[in-house]
Amino acid sequence: MMETRTAVDPATARAVIDPQSYADWDPLLDIFDRLRKENPVAWVEGPDDLHSPFWLVTRYDDAMRISKDNATFLNNPQTVVFSLTEGIEFAENLTGGSPHMVASLVTFDAPIHMKYRRLTQEWFMPKNLRGIEDEIRGIASETVDRLLAAGEEADFCKLVSQPYPLHVVMQILGVPEEDEPRMLMLTQQMFGGQDEDLNQSGMKELTTEQITQLVAGAVKDFEAYFAGLTAEKRAHPTDDVASTIANATVDGEPLNDRDMMGYYIIVAAAGHDTTSASTAGAMLALARDPEQWARVRADLSLLPGIVEEAIRWTSPVQHFMRTAAQDTEVGGQRIAEGDWLMINYVAANHDPAQFDNPRKFDAARSPNRHLAFGAGAHQCLGLHLARLEMRILFETLLDRIETVELAGEPRRAKSTFVGGLKTLPLRFAAA
Ligand code: HEM
Repeated sequence: MMETRTAVDPATARAVIDPQSYADWDPLLDIFDRLRKENPVAWVEGPDDLHSPFWLVTRYDDAMRISKDNATFLNNPQTVVFSLTEGIEFAENLTGGSPHMVASLVTFDAPIHMKYRRLTQEWFMPKNLRGIEDEIRGIASETVDRLLAAGEEADFCKLVSQPYPLHVVMQILGVPEEDEPRMLMLTQQMFGGQDEDLNQSGMKELTTEQITQLVAGAVKDFEAYFAGLTAEKRAHPTDDVASTIANATVDGEPLNDRDMMGYYIIVAAAGHDTTSASTAGAMLALARDPEQWARVRADLSLLPGIVEEAIRWTSPVQHFMRTAAQDTEVGGQRIAEGDWLMINYVAANHDPAQFDNPRKFDAARSPNRHLAFGAGAHQCLGLHLARLEMRILFETLLDRIETVELAGEPRRAKSTFVGGLKTLPLRFAAA
């Protein structure tokens, strides 16, 4: 029997879209637990047209089904990342009508999506990644050198979990090292626009328009930067992803500027903040449990379980949106053509029907079929890279650090989209 539509109460509606909730985390998980039981496909309406209403999906099975049915649940028609109405209007003004500030793999549907994805897919497959393993190991080693040079206490985010995946993905993309600080600032502005420590504005409270302007400014700067890189990679192609993109053709034509920029931006942006968050989360779990650190040091076969569980436990990409292509049903709830849906990965990955004791960090969890990388046609292109980077980094850390513990309160970023720790103060002793 189909359920009638039940809108959530105003306090819940505010909480599930408030960046601060994602910084506080545990009370938000309580809300998802309640919704999963009472209203698993919940109608969320903003007051005063603050945002378009959407279905919030909190059960793992429903999130999985939507992710895998790419014909019924589309990415392109509305924005794929939750935005307030004002932000969408601003994007539409800037782009001449598209709700997507950036056109990229995540905003395309079939058949065009696969044509674009195929251009770089090989690059991110395990076979190809094996060829750059040594290079990644070198970057991990330099990163740990810098951590150890800091003394006995340091912020793991600042010295390790932020710079390391950034450096790896920039090397893969083909961005010179001296340009990385600019890339870091731009991605943090794009993803961390809601957090005053990350958006570089120096302002505590920003309006939607200010945030959107910051994001738009970051996109413009990215575009200017990558226009230069394209010219260079066309003149002198090398063996990197930027050269592949700059010289690619789809249906016999080179990519247009917007699509090409979107491609660089998605690889540059999706490729590091996400992995930073899961890396910091893994370290937090280990720092809270010194015995576990000692156990893994003695038995590295435990490491892949830790990496996988950290990715589930942190769920760095907290949501993506879809739009129903036709009237349909999710979890017994009638969904109308054109409705907007939020796949909430945090909620799905904390569904007790799929994961026993989901808030516990359990490195031995098996199976661990989490949804942190999504599923279906858009499943994360960088998932093998993310796992590989984390494994290599922790092999290096475990080899060179004997003990580690928390040296202060970790803090999470205020962000509804890509989120995770922004500070992780640690005390450690070199091996
Ligand atoms: C722990 C780290 C990461 C997490 C949690 C993560 C998560 C995700 C998620 C949830 C999606 C959307 C999946 C869907 O709609 O079903 C996605 C897509 C994507 N990710 Fe990742 N990601 C991570 C690391 C990376 C890395 C290292 C790269 C490097 C290139 C990357 C590149 C991409 C790209 C290009 C897409 C778009 C794929 C498409 O639409 O076809 N990601 N990722």
